[in-house]
Amino acid sequence: MKITVAKNEREFDCIAAWRIIGEVLNKYNCVIGLSTGRTTGNLHRLVGEIYIQYPFDVSGVTFFGLDEVTNVPREYVGACYTMLKTELIDTLHIKEENFLMLPTQADDFVKACKNFQLEIEKRGGIDLLILGLGENGHLGFNQPQSPFESETWVTQMDNRLEERIRRETNSSLEMRLGGVTLGIKNIMQARKIVLVAKGENKAEIVKKMLEGPVTIDVPASVLQLHPNCEFLLDDTSAAALTNR
Ligand code: GLP
Repeated sequence: MKITVAKNEREFDCIAAWRIIGEVLNKYNCVIGLSTGRTTGNLHRLVGEIYIQYPFDVSGVTFFGLDEVTNVPREYVGACYTMLKTELIDTLHIKEENFLMLPTQADDFVKACKNFQLEIEKRGGIDLLILGLGENGHLGFNQPQSPFESETWVTQMDNRLEERIRRETNSSLEMRLGGVTLGIKNIMQARKIVLVAKGENKAEIVKKMLEGPVTIDVPASVLQLHPNCEFLLDDTSAAALTNR
């Protein structure tokens, strides 16, 4: 296992941004998966800032979002589509067809999941996946107890996130909110993964992920078995580790 501990948030964002840019420079038609949330916003913006200063060729690159919220408008500020677009995709002028997202709304989510997965496979599979970490150990919307053999599917979000989204979108209780996400099996098939976790609220789950058993109680613990996964932490998220 490769564990990198950044001294502070700036260094954390800088290392992560260069993992993405490095992949782009290395393979002009690479396929890169991104996660949304507080951990990744700044590192996405940093990739954009570097691009503006020192433009690099992104014409062949495919970016996709690991997961999406269901039954909200795609334009809602908390939808992964809109977050990724504003944080990175628009700055890099990525063409529409090279930005793959699961839909927020669909008549047939199962079919949409299948198509999404097929499109990634058609482009050669995932070269690099930047993965956020939920406080309960979730990866994407794969909550604890998700089977390790899951493939792109419709699942649940955690209650706190659901509450926030309901409030922000004024959605009625009849409207079922949830998440669509790459499954654990798809995640494990990525050629390279960088798991990013920062902040003291992640310290306990980082310890479980790295030092606990591999178990569906902590979905991210499966990454211990990935042959090419880097765990990028900051000083505070790494604080509870026994073997610093
Ligand atoms: C959400 C997203 C994940 C993200 C995770 C961590 O549930 N669906 O893709 O990785 O939360 O978010 P944060 O970085 O805000 O802690």
